[in-house]
This record gives sequence, structure tokens and C-alpha cells, in this order.
Amino acid sequence: MALSTHWDDVYGRSAVTDVSWFQRDPACSLKMVNVAGLEPSDAIVDVGGGASVLVDRLLDAGHRDVTVLDLAAEALAVTRSRLGSRAGDVQWIIGDLLAWQPRRRYQLWHDRAVFHFLTDADDRDRYRAVLRQALAPGGHVVIGTFAADGPTACSGLPTARYDPSELAEQFPDLRLIRATREEHHTPNGRIQPFTWLLLINDAPPTQTDPHR
Ligand SMILES: C[S@@+](CC[C@H](N)C(=O)[O-])C[C@H]1O[C@@H](n2cnc3c(N)ncnc32)[C@H](O)[C@@H]1O
Repeated sequence: MALSTHWDDVYGRSAVTDVSWFQRDPACSLKMVNVAGLEPSDAIVDVGGGASVLVDRLLDAGHRDVTVLDLAAEALAVTRSRLGSRAGDVQWIIGDLLAWQPRRRYQLWHDRAVFHFLTDADDRDRYRAVLRQALAPGGHVVIGTFAADGPTACSGLPTARYDPSELAEQFPDLRLIRATREEHHTPNGRIQPFTWLLLINDAPPTQTDPHR
């Protein structure tokens, strides 16, 4: 089954408020975004954003350049409909993150619960290659994955688990700024520990970088 079909089925089967990763308040994400200290005009991309309310909160906070990418059209349709007329203020990309060719750079890359599905080393390499293309010099990455004692599967797919140093090692080109642990409470009352990192791209802009 194609990955997009898998995720569209997942979102088609239950209300977005019932999926295990649902959260009413994306508190860890917003805390890390605050530490990154963005300007309202800075470009933000939420990869695998699905039906998350993070985009709503970012718009509420005055961010004017937000992109949400996900391969599940079903999930993005829910988010767009929830946002109503504000959906027009957001850039939407339906597609596979690992095949994405970003046409611009972002000051913030946000990923909650996507990287941990990449249990194949080649897929993680591809993720890092896309991230390298998308992230502006001086840009930040906020990433949340299952913690070392987190679940080994989600939505019928196996997941990798990381403690903060293991997750930071996955991004050797980036400098770690902050790490935290979150105990996510699923809608049916289970606890899923997450590892969260805030990283920065210290690499200086290059002469050939058209986006610097
Ligand atoms: C566990 S959900 C998390 C959704 C959202 N980040 C949140 O916190 O509510 C994982 C999301 O990643 C998306 N996804 C998984 N693999 C992807 C890929 N290769 N490219 C784009 N999106 C992907 C799924 O469709 C799903 O919306």
C-alpha cells in the first residue's frame, strides 16, 4: 500500500481528535519556537503537520509565512476547513517529504512525530538531505520523536525511539540548543514519552547560496 493511502486511511477512519497523537495544545512545539526567537515574517514549515493545530497557533501568534506539508490530503483538508478563511494565509503542500524539492529556505523546520517513522537508514539520509536544502543559514529545527522508552509502533507502522543525545546524533550538521522530555497523553489515556530538540544551523551562507 502506498504510504499516502495508509495515512489517508488512518485519517479517514477516525476523528482527528481521536488519533493517538492528537493534542489540543502543542505546548512543547510553541515553547521551542519561542526560544528560536523568530520574526513574524520568518518562513516556517511544519513537515508532516497533518491535522495539528500548531498552524492555528502560529497564525494566532502573528506568523505570516507558514507552510504545512503532509502526504495525507485528508489531514490537510481537515486543517484547512478548521482554519476557514485563514487557510488562505498558509501554504499547503500535499506530498511525500522524502521526495520534496524545496524551492526556498525556511527559518524554522518543525517535525512532530514524523522522523521516528523512518526506521530505514536510507530514508533518514533522504530526510537530512531535504532538511539541508530547506533550512536557511541560521535556521532552527524543532523536532519531537518517541523517547527511548516510547512506543515501538504507531498507526500500524514501526517507530524508532531516541533519547536526546541519540536524536542529536542524527543531525551532526546542527548544533543542539535545547532538549526536553514530554509525556504526551493520548485521547484514550495512555502516556507516550517524547524527546524534543531545538537545533540550529550554524553553517555560514555560501557564495552560491541564492537564498542567503
Ligand atoms: C503521527 S502523525 C503527526 C501529525 C502532526 N505532526 C501532529 O503532531 O499532529 C504523522 C504525520 O506525518 C505524515 N507523514 C508520514 N510520513 C510522511 C512523509 N514521508 N511525508 C509527508 N508526511 C508524512 C502523516 O500523514 C501524518 O500526518
